[in-house]
Amino acid sequence: MQSRATSNSESSRAILVGVDFGKHDFQESLSELALLTSTAGSTPVHTLTGRRSRPDPALFIGSGKAEELKEAADALDADVVVFNHSLSPAQQRNLERFLQRHVIDRTGLILDIFGQRAQSHVGKVQVELAQVQYQASRLVRAWSHLERQKGGIGMRGGPGERQLELDRRLLDERAKRLKADLTRLQRQHSTQRRARARNDTLSISLVGYTNAGKSTLFNALTKARAYAADQLFATLDTTSRRLYLEGVGNVVLSDTVGFIRDLPTQLVAAFRATLEETVHADLLLHVVDASSPVRHEQIEQVNRVLAEINADDIPQIVVMNKIDASPELLEQGPRVERNEEGVPTRVFVSARDGIGLDALREALVEVARWLAERPPERPPLDPRLADAQPYPDDDLDNDLDGDDTRADPEEPDTQ
Ligand code: GTP
Repeated sequence: MQSRATSNSESSRAILVGVDFGKHDFQESLSELALLTSTAGSTPVHTLTGRRSRPDPALFIGSGKAEELKEAADALDADVVVFNHSLSPAQQRNLERFLQRHVIDRTGLILDIFGQRAQSHVGKVQVELAQVQYQASRLVRAWSHLERQKGGIGMRGGPGERQLELDRRLLDERAKRLKADLTRLQRQHSTQRRARARNDTLSISLVGYTNAGKSTLFNALTKARAYAADQLFATLDTTSRRLYLEGVGNVVLSDTVGFIRDLPTQLVAAFRATLEETVHADLLLHVVDASSPVRHEQIEQVNRVLAEINADDIPQIVVMNKIDASPELLEQGPRVERNEEGVPTRVFVSARDGIGLDALREALVEVARWLAERPPERPPLDPRLADAQPYPDDDLDNDLDGDDTRADPEEPDTQ
């Protein structure tokens, strides 16, 4: 087991644990865990990694490694231990007993961040529903051994602290009420959408992996000031603004929640309403951090979640953002790639520096016209075909050999 010490701080102190099961994105996923932990308000002070072929049923990492972890946690006075994996309730309970510390897994961490950041009524209800469902599976755990601990990730406010008093029946009732609230709120949303549909307004949603630059692009295109930060999930609720396109008129542009690898399906389901704008969009702008070495996996993750929410048949323009961060891409400059019909499929930009935004606007106008004239039987733009065009250090096999998660081409939902 290797270990790496990182910076100290006055906020709660976290030790990160990642087990390498041989997945190629192990390092990226660990870096993402560090960013998630900071986003949740805790400081990673140490990272423990190890290799296993499969998790230990009792402690996930096995007793030798657990000893090592306890020594590190004691030496560094850590408040919380964050696992880059899903722990079973029993593993979490055993680890907490053994380490005498709060232990949180990746799902719990993501839920905590969502809990801190949800702004709108819908967002808050969704987060609480996801938290209640997560806790319902963990009711048996005993928290008394953690009394000496100060509050940290997953322990502050909300359903976390009420856990002990609530039995499963109460949680179920709460979940039922929250679901009813959500249905009501979703109905209100669809009324708003219908109103827009009657106006014949084209609706465009920005989708993409967290930190890809959606909010920055949203701001650059609409001149609005949505919150952009180098933190994960800066945007939790859908924000919609009007955007004027020369020759097309007003369209509605919506920023959406960022996608992330291994987002638990339960969370995706709980956030369905947040992503509803996405499902009902006429066109998706799939924003990609073109400078990221793992952009292919991120594109795949996003498309997988889009398939889960039935948004995979909506035409996409892939926006390769952050070209300023790659010397080779910057040298090639902003450009628009097209399919064999001449329809724009991929646009290279820097949202931050305003490079390629005019080209993107023109591409939007072209695609808006193409959509208006499009015969129903025409297949949608395929982002994977778009991504097959080479650019520097591109590993094409990644995309072309990947699982085909896209549904059969159908007419997109153009309300
Ligand atoms: P989530 O809300 O987590 O989904 O993130 P997001 O996709 O909305 O990303 P956001 O716009 O918040 O940007 C994330 C980080 O990337 C910020 O630090 C931005 O300043 C930075 N960023 C955005 N666009 C660019 C770009 O074109 N070039 C560079 N170098 N950085 C960018």
